[in-house]
Amino acid sequence: MPQLIDVLVGDFEQAVLTGLAQPQKVIPARFFYDRRGSELFEQITQLPEYYPTRTETALLRAHGEDIARYTGTGRTVVEFGSGSSAKTPLLLSAVRANTYVPIDISGPFLADAAAGLAKAYPNLKVLPIAGDFTQPLRLPDAIAADALLGFFPGSTIGNFAPRQAIDLLRSFAATLGEDARLVIGIDLRKNPRLIETAYDDAGGVTAAFNLNLLHRINNELDGDVPIELFEHRAVWQDALGRIEMHLAASRDLSFEVAGRRFAMKAGETIHTENSYKYRPEEARLLARASGWEPMAAWCDADALFSLHVWQAQGRKLEP
Ligand code: TRP
Repeated sequence: MPQLIDVLVGDFEQAVLTGLAQPQKVIPARFFYDRRGSELFEQITQLPEYYPTRTETALLRAHGEDIARYTGTGRTVVEFGSGSSAKTPLLLSAVRANTYVPIDISGPFLADAAAGLAKAYPNLKVLPIAGDFTQPLRLPDAIAADALLGFFPGSTIGNFAPRQAIDLLRSFAATLGEDARLVIGIDLRKNPRLIETAYDDAGGVTAAFNLNLLHRINNELDGDVPIELFEHRAVWQDALGRIEMHLAASRDLSFEVAGRRFAMKAGETIHTENSYKYRPEEARLLARASGWEPMAAWCDADALFSLHVWQAQGRKLEP
């Protein structure tokens, strides 16, 4: 069983009480990922409507050798938000990694994924970190001398507003060090109907994933949210270049969470997630604004999704 380093995970109660008191109610998206949420997200990645996972997987499969040309081989791979680590073997074998450091907020889910990987690849050293990758974190001493390759797939970067995305990518650069590379998946801007369908599947898995937040509130924060009166909504905001996830009240209602009462009008929503989509040139701009220099990028024939290799901007590049 790989060693677990515990890092403080943000306070759910505090975040929910603060978020529900805002004029536009909001719950930070990192709270989706309890065990049930992580499992539902895995199901989302398999949906016919959800194009990002299979498209990114195909890109990793097709361009593994190209990627290795830019990253070199033998680096230690640090994955931010590793989830099930399903795509990771493709990268690990392409770049001939000996050591893998998965970071994920769902501790039990991470432990299972890490154990599975360690078993399937007996020569791979797996050093999981349970924690929130948006907070400053200390990498294991065992990899202090290694050349590092960050891996940030799934367009998770799209779940941060551009300013936060830049801060996050800067912190990755600081964590990974001067000579680092980053392999990052970024979802592309496209026909909004296609995006809305990807975030509102016919089978209702995405709805269940979104509504799971309310179950978490009821179970963990002594809540009595009438979950059956809430509906999942996915709305494309063209001017912002993002799809928004909301939980909408189907009628006037009220509920209690941790002893506090909240009321909502019919149609009022709790905003739970954003997923920003970028044009290829915007993706490159994001790199340059955040301490990275784009080296190479690939996308599928339908231009749905892009995969990039970035290099940490060395001191040499500064004026
Ligand atoms: N990073 C994923 C994305 O933006 C997360 C995600 C997929 C998601 N489907 C979702 C988040 C539905 C909230 C609701 O594509």
